[in-house]
Formats: sequence, C-alpha cells, structure tokens
Amino acid sequence: MINIAIFASGRGSNFSAIAKAVKTGKIKANLRLLVCDNEEAQVIRKARRAKVEIALVKRELFDSKEDFEAKIIKHLKENKIGLIVLAGFMRMLSHDFVKLYKGRIINIHPSLLPSFKGAHAIKDAFDYGVRLTGVTVHFVDEKMDHGPVILQAPVEIRPKDTLASLESRIHKLEHRLYPEAINMFLNKRMVISGRKIRIVYR
Ligand code: GRF
Repeated sequence: MINIAIFASGRGSNFSAIAKAVKTGKIKANLRLLVCDNEEAQVIRKARRAKVEIALVKRELFDSKEDFEAKIIKHLKENKIGLIVLAGFMRMLSHDFVKLYKGRIINIHPSLLPSFKGAHAIKDAFDYGVRLTGVTVHFVDEKMDHGPVILQAPVEIRPKDTLASLESRIHKLEHRLYPEAINMFLNKRMVISGRKIRIVYR
C-alpha cells in the first residue's frame, strides 16, 4: 500500500475528510504523515486525534528554503512516502522539490482552474460575479495552482449566496472530490506522460 503525506498549514478540513476515507477503507493507502509549517494550525490537533505522525517544520528555523525543504524530504524518505497531497499548504514548493516528486504531488484548489488562482479564490470568484465556480484537483508542477487537471466539479453561485454559504458548498464538494482523485491516482486510472506531464485517462 502507498504511504500518503498530507501537507497543510491551516484548518485541515480536507485532512479530516481524507483521514476518514482512509479509516473507512474508501481510500486504500496509509495516511502516514502530516507535514505542517504552522504550529498554531488546527490541522495539528486533527492529526493528533487521527494518530497520524506530525512533522512540524517551521520555515523560520532554517536559513534557506533549500534547508527547509531538505528537512521535509528527510521526513518523506523516512516514511517512504509515495504520494504528497497538498491541502491548504501555504508555501510554494521549489522547482527542485517538485522535480524530485514529479507526478506524485497533487493539490486541491477552490476554483475552476485556470480561473481564480491564488489564496483567495472563493472570494475572488464571488466578488467577480461569475455564475459558476468550483473545485479542481491537479498534479503540481513548477507554477502556482498549475499542472495537469485530474478532476474538476462545478458549483453554481446562486443569487442568494453569501460568501459564507458559497464557501461552505465548495468545501463540502472538496471533501468528496479529493478522496475520489486520490483513488484515481492509487488505481492508476490516469498515467502521466511526457516531459510536461500530461494525463492520459484509461
Ligand atoms: C481549501 O479550500 C483548499 O482548496 C485550499 O485551501 C483550503 C484548505 O482548507 N487549497 P482546509 O485547511 O482543508 O480546511
């Protein structure tokens, strides 16, 4: 079975959804590790409760990004991690890191990429006034919120929506979509081909 590491910096609702799917056997993999860069993050409590090992790696404690990532890589190697799942990890990974784990890092983003990249995607879509937004799960490449799309699903923005009601529907969808995308990876329902990583579905 593949060992999964989740990278998260904040609330951890996606962490919980994935941990639950692993626990109930919907995802057939080991959730081995949480990598977190923020000691105040709620996700730490959730990992503790789920009895998942926690690697708290704070950027401030390292002189360079390279050293910071070297520490993370050490944890990944020790735990023989085969899939990295980014779930609200608020740091860009370096090109070298991405190269090392190319095709084995996935991310979830609360918009229909390539629209509304960045840290405020739900608010940006809401403020823009689009009628349709959604959720994207994708492989990670060197650019932010960019890389081959694994799954996408739409969320309609209703006239009566507030930012809070929209956020709540998007998060609910994320919690369903992420386990599904992880299963597609585990079941090799798509393969990566070529230098620019392109997904081929089967
Ligand atoms: C999610 O909306 C995810 O799409 C984005 O960061 C948020 C993390 O939420 N990348 P949570 O910490 O999993 O609750």
